[in-house]
Amino acid sequence: MVSVSENTPLLRVEDITKSFGAVQALRGITFDLVRGTVMALVGDNGAGKSTLAKILSGVHPPTSGQFYLNGQSCRFDRPAAALAAGIETVYQNLALIEELDVADNVYLGRETTRGGAIGRLFGILDRPAMRQHTAKALSQLHIKIPAPTLAVRKMSGGQRQAVAIGRALTWGRELFILDEPTAALGVDETEQVLRMIERLREEHGLTFIIISHNMQDVYRIADTIVVLRQGRHVATLAKNDTTPEEIVAYITGAKE
Ligand SMILES: Nc1ncnc2c1ncn2[C@@H]1O[C@H](COP(=O)(O)OP(=O)(O)OP(=O)(O)O)[C@@H](O)[C@H]1O
Ligand SMILES: [Mg+2]
Repeated sequence: MVSVSENTPLLRVEDITKSFGAVQALRGITFDLVRGTVMALVGDNGAGKSTLAKILSGVHPPTSGQFYLNGQSCRFDRPAAALAAGIETVYQNLALIEELDVADNVYLGRETTRGGAIGRLFGILDRPAMRQHTAKALSQLHIKIPAPTLAVRKMSGGQRQAVAIGRALTWGRELFILDEPTAALGVDETEQVLRMIERLREEHGLTFIIISHNMQDVYRIADTIVVLRQGRHVATLAKNDTTPEEIVAYITGAKE
């Protein structure tokens, strides 16, 4: 048995590297993530942010290094293994099916996982019950969508992002990884998504890794900021000890 004390970080990442052939996408990433906090993962295009997210969510194995969830070593050979361990990811290009409605999207691909109460009920539920559960779960999470029967193609970017995050939250238990959650959104929609993250962290004590290029968003919602540059881990900054200018200086290499 691995003992989990209050001091055990939710996630510990130890010297992770990843090569794709000759491309060294990650060159030694190490950090701890405390439960109930928000970590921003920042860096220029190609810095390795999505690659790290994909390693944590079971899409790619690391080339070397390891990571631990609640002190337990994780070796995920497929995304379903990360889901089962409680790591939920909303990928950079949202995987929502346009023609399906909200409830179907929330349930998509969950037939074999056992997420929580809703997951255990799946299989014996009919479609109206599924829609009812989805509407209830999303409203408990303060996620506002028009109706669980609305096809996703008829929804705005912010509503789609809310459904994708809602899907992750409906099933997740431990860690939420959001890759560029506001990149495609307008000002109002960005505000809605940021508020949703803030509320979920405050009211439910949820833990997030958020990948973003937007320094204002990062500065607003993150407790800690991890900066990658060309696959290297160049800084771990506490929000209260840094400034948006300093973060940008680490991103661009003006500061080492
Ligand atoms: N499946 C893959 N095969 C080969 N190379 C890859 C693969 N995935 C990523 N890379 C390379 O790894 C590096 C890091 O890519 P990654 O997508 O992690 O960057 P990123 O920080 O998420 O960038 P962006 O901000 O543009 O999304 C890049 O050089 C990229 O071309
Ligand atoms: Mg990316």
